[in-house]
Amino acid sequence: MKLSIISGTANPNLAKAVASSLGVPLAVSKLERFPDNELYVQIDEDMGEHDVFLIQPTSPPATEYLFELLLLADACRRNGARRVTAVIPYFGYARQGRRVGKGEPLAARLVPDLLSWRIDRLITVDLHNPAIEGFFNLPFEHLSAVQVLAEAVRPELMRESVLVAPDLGAVKLAQRYADILDLPVAYAEKVRLSGREVKIRQLIGQIENRSPVLVDDIISTGNTMISTIEQLLNRGCKPHISVVASHGLFVEEALEKFSGFPIDKIIVTDSVRRDDIIAFLPLEAVTIKDILAETIKRLHCLS
Ligand code: R5P
Repeated sequence: MKLSIISGTANPNLAKAVASSLGVPLAVSKLERFPDNELYVQIDEDMGEHDVFLIQPTSPPATEYLFELLLLADACRRNGARRVTAVIPYFGYARQGRRVGKGEPLAARLVPDLLSWRIDRLITVDLHNPAIEGFFNLPFEHLSAVQVLAEAVRPELMRESVLVAPDLGAVKLAQRYADILDLPVAYAEKVRLSGREVKIRQLIGQIENRSPVLVDDIISTGNTMISTIEQLLNRGCKPHISVVASHGLFVEEALEKFSGFPIDKIIVTDSVRRDDIIAFLPLEAVTIKDILAETIKRLHCLS
């Protein structure tokens, strides 16, 4: 079976880097819109009997990229691909994994159902909720960028550094960083008031005179990080703060919000494409291309 790497339009740079690590050419999809705004995709590649890996994070605009991925998977199937694996480095809709109020859907369950109609297997990185794996009846590779992110933040560490989970959901993640970096963990009790608003009720752990390293899976509006940073500074932390997250969505000028704070480094992965250069911020994107390429190689060789 021949290996094919195909990129959607969500993160072609990452797809290019993965294909080049694997030493195969990248097939790029063409995306156009009909006058009524419907999507049209076409893949410039013969797919007969191929083992296809479609690289497409479902980052914002999540619905557009998700539907594009479904169209690409359908195109692969109809053009004879033997197997289609979706490589979704950032898996959108994962935060809607439980119903909080009456009349809500379960989006994190619906998306796996939709994908399962057209794909055979899935590769993803640092899911917001690892339990989502249970929503798939397909072979599933859940990879992690924690090791590469921990190594990227290591040079910023000081003797008095402390890892901070900005909400209770991030405590396990912070403990994984703690195991690698041998640091203590503090955490914030966050209440989400709306999609944009959060409130930090309290900080638990030793903060005073320590240099915080905040870790989370996603930075979206940045409000979770910023609210936690404000509380950390109120509690007398040192003005040396690092921020680490697997997926930097940075919606609604999230990055600009960090500019007034004593941030030494903001480190994310390249799971989500960034086109703009923010010169005034110490932003670093570590690549997950090797993690993805090694997994693709292993799965392809197994077949
Ligand atoms: C939520 O539980 C996630 O782990 C993140 O904390 C959240 O998605 C961050 O969102 P925002 O940057 O908009 O506060």
